[in-house]
Amino acid sequence: MSAPAAFDFTGHVALVTGGAAGIGFGIAEAFHRAGARVAIGDVRETAVKDAAQRLGGGASVFARTMDVRDERSVDRFVEAADAAVGPITIGVANAGVYPNTPVLDMDVAEWDRVMETNVRGVFLTCRAVARAMAARDGPGKIVTIASGAAFSGRPGGAHYCSSKAAVVMFTKVLAMEIAAKKINVNCVAPGYIKVDSETSPVTQEYETTILKGVPWGRAGTPGDIANAVLFLCSPLAEYMTGEVVAVNGGASAGRTHLPLSTPKRR
Ligand SMILES: NC(=O)c1ccc[n+]([C@@H]2O[C@H](COP(=O)([O-])OP(=O)(O)OC[C@H]3O[C@@H](n4cnc5c(N)ncnc54)[C@H](O)[C@@H]3O)[C@@H](O)[C@H]2O)c1
Repeated sequence: MSAPAAFDFTGHVALVTGGAAGIGFGIAEAFHRAGARVAIGDVRETAVKDAAQRLGGGASVFARTMDVRDERSVDRFVEAADAAVGPITIGVANAGVYPNTPVLDMDVAEWDRVMETNVRGVFLTCRAVARAMAARDGPGKIVTIASGAAFSGRPGGAHYCSSKAAVVMFTKVLAMEIAAKKINVNCVAPGYIKVDSETSPVTQEYETTILKGVPWGRAGTPGDIANAVLFLCSPLAEYMTGEVVAVNGGASAGRTHLPLSTPKRR
């Protein structure tokens, strides 16, 4: 199959959680542009309506308020999406939250909110999507969205970094369990991605500092992540499963912020 043909998703149905904004919307938009029908789920009602409108509405877009932390909500969303625009062939477990609080100041409610959204939410989404795919004997593609934070800690991110490390290992185990059904399960680990979103807590100071560690010299965009997700869901990635793809402008290559050092003459 030629490369352009591999990125034609006509006839596919891509379900994206947290799809009303940021990276999730970028992924949904990319699949829609590539010919897929899309199902967007998000906890924010107004944002869901806006996102559906931005995609032009119509029969190829299903958008609904849902909460990835809630088993019934996830199962109902996947069932309704399957009935409205299905059968679902692609599932992207993207919804996530990233507050920053040092451990000594963190209350249990914040810890639980991060774990419930980022870990339980990924489990519930992937389980529901995989069950729908398996009921039809596959095949299918599932992508989870982790973070560079799964591999490199940061102050204030004890809950977030732990949750993303859990997403990585969840992806690997699920991939093994359903490989025989020809369902690929892979993970994208974004670096810093600039999102135009009401929910993102990132400050200008944080952005300026983090960009010092990005050799490519710019923040990532939702489109950069969508490109990797489309590749993993394309026939070109048929033999990849249980894998983590970092998309971060080289940020995990090393310590780019260090100055060049030259040996002293003796
Ligand atoms: N932006 C980055 O730099 C970056 C870097 C690495 C990883 N990520 C990950 O990418 C994913 C998307 O991040 P983003 O930057 O686009 O965030 P964002 O805040 O812009 O968008 C996240 C979306 O998820 C939705 N959401 C939150 N909780 C939900 C729930 N319980 N149920 C359903 N939807 C819910 C929000 O309403 C929002 O629309 C997250 O998993 C995040 O951890 C982001």
